[in-house]
Amino acid sequence: MLIKETGFKGNLLIRKAGIPPVGGFTPDRQKEFIKCATDPLYFCRKYVKIKHIDFERKILFKPRGYQLKMLESILKNRNTISRWPRQSGKTTVLAAVALHYLIFTRNYSILIAAHKGDKAQEIVSALQDMFMELPSWLQQGVTEWNKRSFKLENGSRVKCSTTSTSSARGDTYNMIMLDEFAFVAAHVAEEFVKSVIPTVSSGKDSKIIITSTPRGLNYFYKIWAEATKVVEAERKPNDFVPIAVEWNEVPGRDEAFKESMIKQHGKNFWEQEFACAFIGSSQTLIDSSKLLVMVAMDPIKETEETRVYAEPQPHHVYAMTVDVAEGLGGDFSVAMVFDVTASPYRVVYIYQDRYIDTMALPGLIFEIGRRYNNAMVLVESNFGQMVADILWRDFQYEHVIFTERAVKIPGGFKVGWGSKRQVPGVQMNKTAKHIGCTTLKSLIENDQLIIDDDKTIEELRRFAVKKKSYAAETGNDDLAMALVLFGWLSEQGYVKHQTDVNVRASIANLNKQRIDNQMLVAYRNDGIPPDTGPVAASSANDDWLLKENDPEPDSIYLDDLDRWERHGW
Ligand SMILES: Nc1ncnc2c1ncn2[C@@H]1O[C@H](COP(=O)(O)OP(=O)(O)OP(=O)(O)O)[C@@H](O)[C@H]1O
Ligand SMILES: [Mg+2]
Repeated sequence: MLIKETGFKGNLLIRKAGIPPVGGFTPDRQKEFIKCATDPLYFCRKYVKIKHIDFERKILFKPRGYQLKMLESILKNRNTISRWPRQSGKTTVLAAVALHYLIFTRNYSILIAAHKGDKAQEIVSALQDMFMELPSWLQQGVTEWNKRSFKLENGSRVKCSTTSTSSARGDTYNMIMLDEFAFVAAHVAEEFVKSVIPTVSSGKDSKIIITSTPRGLNYFYKIWAEATKVVEAERKPNDFVPIAVEWNEVPGRDEAFKESMIKQHGKNFWEQEFACAFIGSSQTLIDSSKLLVMVAMDPIKETEETRVYAEPQPHHVYAMTVDVAEGLGGDFSVAMVFDVTASPYRVVYIYQDRYIDTMALPGLIFEIGRRYNNAMVLVESNFGQMVADILWRDFQYEHVIFTERAVKIPGGFKVGWGSKRQVPGVQMNKTAKHIGCTTLKSLIENDQLIIDDDKTIEELRRFAVKKKSYAAETGNDDLAMALVLFGWLSEQGYVKHQTDVNVRASIANLNKQRIDNQMLVAYRNDGIPPDTGPVAASSANDDWLLKENDPEPDSIYLDDLDRWERHGW
């Protein structure tokens, strides 16, 4: 009896599982099927149809040079990452590759994820369109057909979702395609890479394909930067094969196109969307040209909470800053040790722990401080006053740095005119943060502070203007805050006096105007001058050191007033 082809749920473009195609599997068709299976490019050129960009008609998919590179890389390598301009055919090539794997491999499962569900669905829908254009003898019979997923009678299946750790949990996939990965929120992208990718990579032949247009120096950038390093260095930070597509490789994109895009949307838009520059999505504290070239090194020792970049050296001078977590979970307590013996300074040790009890911190700081030649210690006391107090009072650590409020504006402060009150630690108010950020920016951009730590560099890439100050765009910024504390400390003249290295002097005027202008972003909206900041003192009474050599923080406030007046802010 002849079984009539009726299509899946009445859709004649889809062959239903268990029903042979009209005309059957003739020997010629079988030969062609095998040719398509073994030659994906032949399959694409002869059978895959796509929508023409200008008309609603279908044309055969003739992969462009860069699409071909992508296709070959996916077939040959396990992991591929690609950086593409807008509207260059990412979705098309991903759909075509997925189609080939689904039809010609048994029990093949693919997860397609994007920052938004409908973006991922776009690929599934392109894939379904391509599938429906195939002759029915080249299709696999369909057992399930939904908007966001489908299954074939050879056991292969595809599903789409948003990029989140829960989307991939509890299922195994042979291939994960992550589209627009740069648009996934930083903490989600990081979690995804850490928790999902290792489980996928444990499969012998499983593949991960990441595609995106850049968007700032985020996690996509990190993987891309590591992948491109593979080409240049022997050391392989990851095994992603990078594929860069340049804007003028896309047909029809020439200088005239570029000019008209810039005219319509501005240079920034062009740089990011078409020239694929990894410029920051917003104004980062550290210049993005500097952030781009900062390269991480492996620590010499590492545990879950600590990363050591240099052991304590005899006769070296060290400073430690401590950022104490608010204690609401989420954020980390950080202790960061700097070698300040000679310029450039260097981050040598990092302790970073989300779960440490505040009561346990002083003892730990004490140990680290002792180990690093009695490092001077500056504790951020907004949440860490108790930590600073215990370190000073109970542990009697004599190298705790004290601060006093420099009060010049009457009213609003408890401490009266002329009175002095020194407390261990420093409260990071607006002024102190302003000074810390300015100095940190200057130190890093002038190569006066070496940072090898991957996580710290990553935080700096997200450390940008937020509301009226600097903070992480998304995720944590505890490491960056430890650096800001160091910036503040080095501005106080404390460091230079302990070591005879006057970093500040050598860079004093470099970038000053630029920094001032940028930092003003923090204040100009409200026109209210920043409150006055603390001044460093020491646990030994060496007030003279500060008075003689260091500008009072107020001078910055006066500078600001002067500028506001001149610019009318
Ligand atoms: N090789 C090709 N030949 C002709 N047209 C193509 C080719 N590849 C893609 N296209 C067409 O170019 C248009 C854009 O393709 P696609 O949606 O795949 O790009 P994209 O890079 O994913 O875009 P977006 O940045 O918007 O996500 C579509 O109309 C597609 O059919
Ligand atoms: Mg797309």
